[in-house]
Parts: sequence; structure tokens; C-alpha cells
Amino acid sequence: MARRIVDLLKSKVQNSQIELLESLSYSDIFWDQIAKIERIRYKGYVYDLTISPDHNFVCGRGAFISHNTTTAVNSAAYLASHRRKTLLIDIDPQGNATSGVGIDKNRVEHSIYEVLIAHRPIERVLLPTQIRNLDLIPSNIQLSGAQIELVNLESRETLLKKALGNIKEKYDYVIVDCPPSLGLLTINTLIASDEVIIPMQCEYYPLEGLGQLLNTIGLVQRNYNPSLKLAGVLLTMFDTRTNLSHQVAREVQEYFGDRVYKTVIPRNVRLAEAPSFGKPILLYDRHCAGAKAYKRLAREIMLKSKE
Ligand SMILES: Nc1ncnc2c1ncn2[C@@H]1O[C@H](COP(=O)(O)OP(=O)(O)O)[C@@H](O)[C@H]1O
Ligand SMILES: [Mg+2]
Repeated sequence: MARRIVDLLKSKVQNSQIELLESLSYSDIFWDQIAKIERIRYKGYVYDLTISPDHNFVCGRGAFISHNTTTAVNSAAYLASHRRKTLLIDIDPQGNATSGVGIDKNRVEHSIYEVLIAHRPIERVLLPTQIRNLDLIPSNIQLSGAQIELVNLESRETLLKKALGNIKEKYDYVIVDCPPSLGLLTINTLIASDEVIIPMQCEYYPLEGLGQLLNTIGLVQRNYNPSLKLAGVLLTMFDTRTNLSHQVAREVQEYFGDRVYKTVIPRNVRLAEAPSFGKPILLYDRHCAGAKAYKRLAREIMLKSKE
């Protein structure tokens, strides 16, 4: 049975029907067993059959992106704690970065939505947070319709870049937490950004999403933002006890070489708990392994951006 599914998926991949493969990955057919049986090479990327629907990534100095809210929130918090003036922009309708720094997303009066759609000056949406040197541009569910509303706007891809204007100069770091999809909100972020950090979870092979992301970065570089750089790849959710974690780490390091951050974020339950208390890890439990890792990461980010 498992073998037949593998053959089926393989032929689909060879026919470039990646979408089908992605939708299949949501179903509950023996994924664990299949993963051990076969991996697929396609157009230079290695696919594992446990392809996740997630696309993970963050972005950097002058602006980081992230579809890894934990990384966006905690690296921003530690950069601020190192006395770097830091702005966290939540551009994901889920608003998890907003609530992650302790701001009630349901009570947010003005959000990034108004900045993008109604040209509200970004300064008038800015909120201080409980961490000194860390400000927030909040988001909430209001933004969920924006991808569609944006389509009809002129210069729809560069709205965030324009909105950021010279506010970027007031901060040492601007970190943007992106939604998982590679839609207009993400494109806006890539165009407004100087660097991208790509977090990769070591719990599955995230290389499918990675291929699409790298393509999109290339597209943005060629058409809008030639200076966009890959700041680094961050291994997250690393579990020393699993073979898969070691395997993913090895392959990512082989592929990206010294562009992989030395800091590896461990799988750590305290990191998962902190958001429900509206606290970055440094306020929730600064002695846990996850906190120490994000503290190291902030230092590495500062070092890499050659302060
Ligand atoms: N290193 C980690 N260890 C344990 N749990 C984590 C870790 N990183 C993220 N999580 C948890 O995994 C889930 C998804 O992470 P999140 O950062 O919100 O990703 P995304 O923004 O891509 O949805 C959240 O519940 C989060 O608390
Ligand atoms: Mg998120």
C-alpha cells in the first residue's frame, strides 16, 4: 500500500503536479511510514513525502520577514534588549506577533491594514510594547481581506515600502512577521526589505516551500529590489533526540553552507507556552534553552549585519 502511494506521488512530482502533492500532504495516509521509504529529487530540490504545507521564513536588517512568528517576536525582543531600537511589524492577519508581545489583537484600534489600504501614516499606528526599545505595528483579522483589496490598488506591491518611508531610519532593526502564503502581503514585505532570514523547522523537510520562496525572492530581486539579500537560514524546532532533526540540519548545512546561522533553535516547550501569556520568551522564562538560543541568535544577527 505504502509503495503504491509512493509511486503515485513520484509520478505526480515528475509531472510537475506539485499542488496535488501538497494537497495530498494534508491527508492522513501513513505519512510517517512513507517518509522513511522514499525521498524524491526534483529540479535540484530534495522532496520528502512529508512535505508540509508551511512556508517558513523571516526577513532582515532594515526589515526581516517571518512566517515563523516565534522567531520574529523573540529575535525582535532580544535585539531590543541589546539596546537596538527595533520595530516589529505584524503583517499576518492572524495577528500572532501582535498578541505575542502582549497586545490584544481584538482591541487594536489602528492596524497595518489602514497603513496599506487607507494610507494612514505608519507613525500613527505605532504602539510601544512592554519591552524597552521595541515598538509594534499591529495586525488583526481585518487584514485578511487585504490580499484581495490590494489587487485593485495602484502600485500594490510597493505599498509597505512607501509606507515605511523614513521611519526605517529611526530604527536599528525592522522585523516583519509574514503570513504563510506567498501572496501580495509577502511580496510587499520582500520589496520593503533588505534581507531575508529563512527559518526551517527540523521536523519535516521544508524544502518544497523553500523552492517556491527562493523563486519568489529571485523574482523580487530581478523586478523590484535588486539589493535584497539572504541574511541566513535558521534551523528551528531542533530536537537532538530525533534522526530527522539531524538529517534536516545536515542537508540544510550542505545546501546553504555558511549562510546557515550557527545558532540552532531547539524544540522547547517554554517557547510554545510564552505566546499564550502575551510574553516574548525573555519575559516569560529567560533561563530556558529557547531563551538562550534566541539571545544568541540576536547577537549573531547583529554580528552578521556588521554593526
Ligand atoms: N522552538 C520551538 N519549540 C517549541 N514550539 C515551538 C517552537 N517554535 C515554534 N513553536 C510553536 O509552534 C507553533 C507554530 O510556530 P509559529 O512560530 O507560530 O510559526 P508560524 O508563524 O509559522 O505559524 C506555535 O504554537 C509555536 O508556539
Ligand atoms: Mg505566524
